[in-house]
Amino acid sequence: MKVLDARFVTSATDARSIPHDGIPHVVLVGRSNVGKSTLLNALTRVQAARTSAAPGKTRLANLYQVAVEGGPGGPGRWSFYFADLPGYGYARGGRESVVELTRVADAYFGGDHAIAGVLHLVDARHPGLDADLDAAKWLQSLDVERAVLATKVDKLSRNERGKNLKELERQLGMAALPISATSGEGLDDLWTLIARLSRR
Ligand code: GTP
Ligand code: MG
Repeated sequence: MKVLDARFVTSATDARSIPHDGIPHVVLVGRSNVGKSTLLNALTRVQAARTSAAPGKTRLANLYQVAVEGGPGGPGRWSFYFADLPGYGYARGGRESVVELTRVADAYFGGDHAIAGVLHLVDARHPGLDADLDAAKWLQSLDVERAVLATKVDKLSRNERGKNLKELERQLGMAALPISATSGEGLDDLWTLIARLSRR
């Protein structure tokens, strides 16, 4: 598999500025600092992702278009958008943070562009944060495919890792895929997931 191109497309500020060209959107959702932009860079091996805007700066999503050759699903070219949504929970753990997420993301998910699925990133070190549980509940209520990614697993001991992954599964109702943008762990499995969601 080869990433042919990964480029920043636009910082969408309203539903109208989201591209409606039939190319599916893979949406990254997660707390501020959970590792969304870093993951995007690690997956594409291109420094495409912009560094965080100032906290509180209203925007809908930063969009990146990715073109891939081959990979899970066989030969051929395919492309998709990564939508990097603003991180919630800047005021750590606060419940109002999910209100902020839903306001932004309702506009995103309410559009008529093609949503392939949502990748919900949670920090593997901190299972059970209110903001993450609220976000998971809200994502469940949407009619979209979702997967949970447990980020920064490189920071955990083997023991903590097993314990935290079990805890995350219990709380979020599905097994989390352990990943690390730093070590590259889990990224092949994640590409398989992304291909399943977005390739056609
Ligand atoms: P917002 O844009 O504020 O919503 O944050 P974000 O989710 O995009 O987080 P970002 O990618 O900026 O990462 C936050 C911090 O976590 C940075 O210092 C990264 O270097 C670090 N980080 C991200 N992924 C990993 C990882 O897999 N392992 C480790 N050890 N650190 C990571
Ligand atoms: Mg970011």
